[in-house]
Formats: sequence, structure tokens, C-alpha cells
Amino acid sequence: MAEQQLKHIPVMLGEAVEGLAVHSGGRYLDGTFGRGGHARAVLSRLGPDGRLLLMDRDPQAIATAQAEFASDPRVSIRHANFSTMAEWDETAGGLDGILLDLGVSSPQLDEAARGFSFMADAPLDMRMDTTQGESAADFLAHASEKEIADVLWIYGEERFSRKIARAIVEDRTDNPITRTGQLASLIERVVGRREPGKHPATRSFQALRIRVNGELDALEHGLNAALELLKVGGRLSIISFHSLEDRAVKLFIRDHSGRVQGSRRGPPVAAAPARLAAVGKARFPSDEELSVNPRSRSAVLRVAEKLA
Ligand SMILES: C[S@@+](CC[C@H](N)C(=O)[O-])C[C@H]1O[C@@H](n2cnc3c(N)ncnc32)[C@H](O)[C@@H]1O
Repeated sequence: MAEQQLKHIPVMLGEAVEGLAVHSGGRYLDGTFGRGGHARAVLSRLGPDGRLLLMDRDPQAIATAQAEFASDPRVSIRHANFSTMAEWDETAGGLDGILLDLGVSSPQLDEAARGFSFMADAPLDMRMDTTQGESAADFLAHASEKEIADVLWIYGEERFSRKIARAIVEDRTDNPITRTGQLASLIERVVGRREPGKHPATRSFQALRIRVNGELDALEHGLNAALELLKVGGRLSIISFHSLEDRAVKLFIRDHSGRVQGSRRGPPVAAAPARLAAVGKARFPSDEELSVNPRSRSAVLRVAEKLA
């Protein structure tokens, strides 16, 4: 599919950018540029002294950013995982806001050759950063049955994780699993169609994608780096798309908000000094947004502010 046909509709655009409380001379980081929906909205609020730093681990996203923003003196662009944001000298003076719109973009899902989708047959790749790391096919070629089952269970909550893992390991001796269509049919064969309106491979594909891209590790490192880089009063605005991500974000904000830790029955554990305050509660897409963009359905937005 031609790149120009592959669009991404930004999710919770107004709410996420409002969460950053952009001021015109501030310095902001969009760690997940994608196709720039949020970045454009931040930039429209910046004056000549403002700065916008753009990161994405996907070279195609970065090519889009270069094509559109390279000549804007307020913008700097870097092809990298946002987990490395502190290594970028542009972030050294601190940031007034950091936006992370997690997960994959529509162009990644819709371009069959990226190998994220079970809807079209293509090489089983699934890497956001196509310049490094191992593909989903590489992982399935060497991982043990237990490792595969654990990934499907932990990252996909796939009830048939063991059955699917066993079938993969049995099949791969004669037939290495190298294509999306091959994996989707294997899963369909093993578990059958069970949830109406949902392909039986949905959970397994999500799980493999999270594993291949180390998404939860990147999020954990990114959140820690963000906390250090934010200036006092700086904002964190994060959109997650599945419960594991949202849980990590929620606990990170809670753990740095100075609330007493420990279980209700156990002795209270002294709270660490508060460094972050949640701004409002978790927010979800409106009915109107859901009707226009069904891909927003699992989105959760959380905003937090760095404290003195
Ligand atoms: C949901 S899309 C972002 C869409 C964007 N906000 C827009 O409006 O076009 C997620 C993007 O984040 C990128 N991404 C995901 N995890 C990343 C990470 N750890 N580091 C850098 N980029 C990442 C993906 O490659 C993808 O382009």
C-alpha cells in the first residue's frame, strides 16, 4: 500500500495535548511521533522560542518527521527508542512536557509487509525499528516451548497459550513459522474460532509484538527517564492501549506520588517523597471519537505533573 494512503488518526488529541499545558516558550518531547498528529498540535501552541523534540523508533515515522519538520528551527528529530531520551543532549536542560502515545500506529498495522497483522499474509516481522533486533519469526524459531507459552500468556492473556506453543514447536521442525498467514492459520487450527468478532490470533499477535519490541521494558525505562528530565511543574501525558501498559503507568504515578505503600493488612511502609501528582483521573475516548476512530477503543490517558 502506498505510504500516502496509510494515515494515522491521532487518539485523544485534544485531551492529551491539553494535558501537557503547553506554554509558548517551553521545551517538549513527543517520544512517539508516529505520523505527527500530536506533534503538530503541540507545535501549533509553541512560539518562536519554543522547542519540540521528536523521537520514534520506526525509521518510516522518522522519515515523515524529517520531510515535514526538518526545516522548522524549533524542531529536533531523533531516530531512537524513547527509553534512551536522557542520552539525547537536546533533553539535557530539562523538559516542560513529555508525551507518549504508546503502541503501534495505523501505518504499521496497515502495511502488510511490516508483519503486525494477521489480516494479510506477509513475512512475520513485527519490529517497530526495522534496523535492529530480532523479528517475531526469529523469536519463534529459537524460543523454547515454555518461553513461547509464557509470552502468549503474560502479554496476551491467551488461555490456549500452552496448546499454541506446543503446536508452534511441533510444526517448526519441518515448517519454520515465517509468515503471518501461517501463524494465524496454525492458531485457528489449534484453538478454533471462539470469540465472536475477534480473530483467534488477536491475543497471540499482540503478545508477540510486545515481546519482539520489548514494549514494557521500554515503557519502564522511559518513565524513569521522564521523571528525571521533567522540570518542576512539567507534565507527563501518556496514552496506553492495553491493560499491562496502563497498569505500569498508573503504578508509576502512584509510586511517585508520596502515598503510603504496603498492603492494607501489612505494616505501612514509609512513603518516598512525592515527586509526581496525578492530574485528574484516567480519561477515555468519547463516544464521538469512538464512532469516528474505532482503533481508539482501548485507549487510556493519564496525566501527571512533576512536583518540587
Ligand atoms: C500510536 S503511534 C503514535 C501516533 C502519533 N501520536 C500520531 O498522532 O501520529 C505509536 C508510535 O510510537 C512508536 N513507538 C512505540 N514505542 C516506542 C518506543 N519505545 N520508542 C520510540 N518510539 C516508539 C511507534 O513506532 C509508533 O510510530
